[in-house]
Amino acid sequence: MHLLIPAAGSGRRMGSERNKLLLPLLGQPVLAWTLQAAKQAESIEWIGIIGQPCDWQNFKAIVAQLGLEDTVQFIQGGATRQESVYCGLKGLPTTADRVLIHDGARCLATPDLFDHCAEALRDCLGLIAAIPVKDTIKVVDAPTQLITATPDRSNLWAAQTPQGFVVQDLLQCHEQGIRQGWEVTDDAALFEQCGLPVKIVLGEETNLKVTTPVDLAIAEFILKQRSMLP
Ligand code: CTP
Ligand code: MG
Repeated sequence: MHLLIPAAGSGRRMGSERNKLLLPLLGQPVLAWTLQAAKQAESIEWIGIIGQPCDWQNFKAIVAQLGLEDTVQFIQGGATRQESVYCGLKGLPTTADRVLIHDGARCLATPDLFDHCAEALRDCLGLIAAIPVKDTIKVVDAPTQLITATPDRSNLWAAQTPQGFVVQDLLQCHEQGIRQGWEVTDDAALFEQCGLPVKIVLGEETNLKVTTPVDLAIAEFILKQRSMLP
């Protein structure tokens, strides 16, 4: 299975001066944890890291330390995640039929989750890892700050990555999105807007996205707990 890792962001909400994926987490950069899980997944045989040129040197050092030089290709990303994934799709080898996309910032995903998604993607056109939401979600009208709806929680799932798709279908959805000016925060949304089916694979509660400083602290706690397991 081919895996694309969007890693071309700046980490604005982290408030750090550099890409948050280079921040240390238990002595290793965030991206190293993500790559390590992908390396341990049996299904992943090719990895495309989508990044910005200012980070190449640091990314290359991480890849070398993990001994992944023969597995990893670097692809230049764009100004938004959506643009970056589109660049990644165009950078895939022509032999790639299906692809998993996993945010570099989701550094706690387990190798098993990659393998489950890869397995499930054999039988469908598109899928995402997701978990049922625990909070009651409110729809709020921004100007008045008044609640306009409370959707039934039993139908709500929180989207994670990996997300997986048939490459040609996702490419066409991205191109349709460019023509229509759609702005989305995940690839499933493009698939959905094009009327294609996206299946759910049960994600992991610990598969958080490192977004703000508190996420780094929680990720550190979870990794410490894991390292204490027999
Ligand atoms: N990403 C990307 N290209 C972009 C923006 C984001 O490849 N132009 C990647 C990030 O590196 C991250 C993933 O998409 O792995 C999810 O994005 P997010 O958590 O929003 O990361 P950032 O955009 O870096 O953070 P922020 O939105 O706070 O600036
Ligand atoms: Mg972002």
